Amino acid sequence: MQILGIETSCDETAVAIVGDQAPRIRANLVLSQLAEHQRFGGIVPEVAARAHLAHLDRLVARALAEAGVGWERLDGIAATGGPGLIGGVLVGVMEGKAIAFARDLPFIAVNHLEGHALSARLVADTAFPYLLLLVSGGHCQLLIVEGVGRYRRLGTTIDDAVGEAFDKGAKLLGLGYPGGPAIERAALAGDPARFALPRPMRARSGCDFSFSGLKTALWRTVVQLTGSRGELAPQDAADLAASLQAAIADCLIDRTGHAIAIFQSRYPAGSTLVAAGGVAANAMLRGRLGELASSAGLAFAAPPASLCTDNGAMIAWAGLERLNAGLVDGLDFAPRPRWPLDPTAPRALGAGVKA
Ligand code: KG4
Ligand code: ZN
Repeated sequence: MQILGIETSCDETAVAIVGDQAPRIRANLVLSQLAEHQRFGGIVPEVAARAHLAHLDRLVARALAEAGVGWERLDGIAATGGPGLIGGVLVGVMEGKAIAFARDLPFIAVNHLEGHALSARLVADTAFPYLLLLVSGGHCQLLIVEGVGRYRRLGTTIDDAVGEAFDKGAKLLGLGYPGGPAIERAALAGDPARFALPRPMRARSGCDFSFSGLKTALWRTVVQLTGSRGELAPQDAADLAASLQAAIADCLIDRTGHAIAIFQSRYPAGSTLVAAGGVAANAMLRGRLGELASSAGLAFAAPPASLCTDNGAMIAWAGLERLNAGLVDGLDFAPRPRWPLDPTAPRALGAGVKA
């Protein structure tokens, strides 16, 4: 079985071909649009959609060439159907549908979050059910993954996503975009104990997250250090990066600890904590999650960093798992800007929840 996967929900144009026999990843191409957005200081949806359109055909052809397969060797076409920037999702879905129609192949619309959620199974065959910490630029959730298409959300953020906390923090510290890798790098030379930043939600029960207070506290500290103008000294920036990373990690560990207790009481046979999404590329966080899991008697699994950040392989893999489960979509599938993995989950406390 071989699936072509297309990912266009944000600022990466990505195409991959994944099979069910080793080596599973036959081709995995990610084209970053960083340069196209840099001059605007952030991602511009219209620019992203046009860039996906400009690059996608060429990337699909290159993926087929790299995998050394023709159309006739494919068993299905998977494309991210949401959630994400709708212009980009439309481009990927139209490309996927057009190929599926022209080649008479099944079309599978993949929830981007399901792509992240199943990525651990692409590399490690992690068995269901498992507890998932899904941490990315747009999301921060704790879910129990019962099976393909079967998710129980235990908690989500009531304001910012955790990747946003890294990205906005890095902007405040003058470290550039994307913020996660920049904060991680700067933190290596910093003292995580120098600034006492808050740990929002830590005293609260449940598994919801909050990061906006942390951002405000960081901003106040920067203003105190620099006055009304002037730049941060490199050591101050490094210490702040380390302090921010430590505070974020403490929040994630605290909430995940609560989720482990719920997971173990409801699913005694469950044996693994999985981390996925761009923020799961963070080495310090992976280390701490590994310790937390082992102290609770769980295994810890996270895909390699290149499969944590957005990629086509996870979309192709989720497509393969869905196809195996008989879950195929019609060519009338409508892209979804919002698409919660667990539509039955109660909204988190507070407003502005990203689901
Ligand atoms: O999963 P992803 O590539 O895209 C979304 O679906 O959102 O996640 C991107 C996010 C960005 O906020 C980026 O700053 C963060 O993941 N990120 C990291 C690291 N690498 C990427 N955060 C912390 N540490 C990293 N090493
Ligand atoms: Zn993502």
